[in-house]
This record gives sequence, structure tokens and C-alpha cells, in this order.
Amino acid sequence: MAAAGAFSGVLLMMAHVVMLSSRVYADPDSLQDICVADLTSAVKVNGYPCKSNVTADDFFFSGIANPGDTNNSVGALVTGANVQKVPGLNTLGISLARIDYAPGGLNPPHTHPRATEVVFVLEGELDVGFITTANVLIAKSIKKGDIFAFPKGLVHYQKNNGDSPAAVLSAFNSQLPGTQSIAATLFAAAPPVPDNVLTKAFQVGTEEVQQIKSKFAPK
Ligand SMILES: *[C@@H]1O[C@H](CO)[C@@H](O)[C@H](O)[C@H]1NC(C)=O
Ligand SMILES: *[C@@H]1O[C@H](CO)[C@@H](O)[C@H](O)[C@H]1NC(C)=O
Repeated sequence: MAAAGAFSGVLLMMAHVVMLSSRVYADPDSLQDICVADLTSAVKVNGYPCKSNVTADDFFFSGIANPGDTNNSVGALVTGANVQKVPGLNTLGISLARIDYAPGGLNPPHTHPRATEVVFVLEGELDVGFITTANVLIAKSIKKGDIFAFPKGLVHYQKNNGDSPAAVLSAFNSQLPGTQSIAATLFAAAPPVPDNVLTKAFQVGTEEVQQIKSKFAPK
């Protein structure tokens, strides 16, 4: 009897935990089937307003079918397939990207303020990592067919240390994850972050700061 009472007590407790966690952690529900982004609207809301004239093309994008051009200073290119390319993703909390890496290519340290990211290696091998708020580097080498997760908001990178090109498909739990690339954020902001902020932060001289800034000429 006592055992049965304890058992039902445990069940009751578990039911409470499930109820509580589903209340606290549930995704906000959409209030309509679709809300295709009106990317031209001047109205700014949390997301985009919905447009009324919807077609299948609003849910379609072929822009990550082929490798992106990695001929740039870091040897990597991110091609987003987010709400700005697929308006039908508006309010749905999900998007993709494709990232291509030349041999030696780096997707430099950056964060996504609004999403966790999971990469799936389409081709090649990568050395990837993220840094926790306790400043611990969590890093691993991954190859074709592997996945790796980068928790929301944490600084992370991917580097192709192999001899052949690499590519990943990235999934995000946001229609528009946003990206802050650490070097560009600090050294190419407009208006610029004051030199005296950067000299103090990095414990270097003004010349070093200006040298780095010169490599990140405003686009
Ligand atoms: C809806 O969009 C399609 C494709 O852009 C266009 O051909 C059609 O005229 C539009 N219909 C209305 C009612 O605006
Ligand atoms: C790469 O880009 C540089 C500078 O824009 C250009 O001069 C060069 O021809 C490009 N190389 C290839 C293979 O496209």
C-alpha cells in the first residue's frame, strides 16, 4: 500500500513537472496557418506583416542548390535561406543556410543572437567549436554526414583545414537568426567603435587597432 502510494505520488509529481515545463517552454503558437512576409512593407513589427496575395514561390528558394563563391578574404561564404529569401517562413521560427569553405577557409567567430544552429556536413571536413560563457572551448573535427550544434548566442566558428572544399547545411530555430561577426562588429561598425575602447579592451596600441580597422573597410 505504502509503495503504491509513493508510486502514485511520483507519477503526480512527474505530471506536474510535464505540465509546468510545457507551460514555461512551449513555442509561442502561430495564430494563422501562414503569414507570408510582406518584405516591402514600411510597417515594422516583431517580424514582418503578412501579405494577402500568396503564391507557392513565397515558400520556395533554389539559392542554396549550388556552392557559393568563396573567393574572399576568409575563404568562406554563408548563403542564408531565411525569411528574407523565403517570405513564407515569417512567424514560423525556422530557417536554413548553406556555408561553403575553400581549403583553409574560415567562417570567422560570430554569434547568432536569436537562434541555436545545427550544421550537417554536405562535403569535406571541418574543425568547429563554440565557447561557453565560462570561457571553455568545445571543439571537434567533423566530416561529411556529421552534425554539430552551436547553442544560441554563443561565439562559434568553422574552419576547413583540409585540402578540398567543404560545405554544410545549417538549420536555425529562428526565421532570421541574425549574425554578429566578432571582428567585423568591433572593427567595422559605422560609426566606428572608438579606438580608445578597443585599445583598452584588447590591451594593444592605437596603431594595432587602426591596422585591424583598415582590413575591414566599410562595405
Ligand atoms: C497576385 O500575384 C500574382 C503573382 O505576383 C499576380 O500575377 C496577380 O495579379 C496578383 N493578384 C492580385 C489579386 O494582386
Ligand atoms: C578572386 O578575387 C580576386 C579579387 O577580387 C580576383 O582578382 C581573382 O581573379 C579571383 N579569383 C578567382 C579564381 O575568381
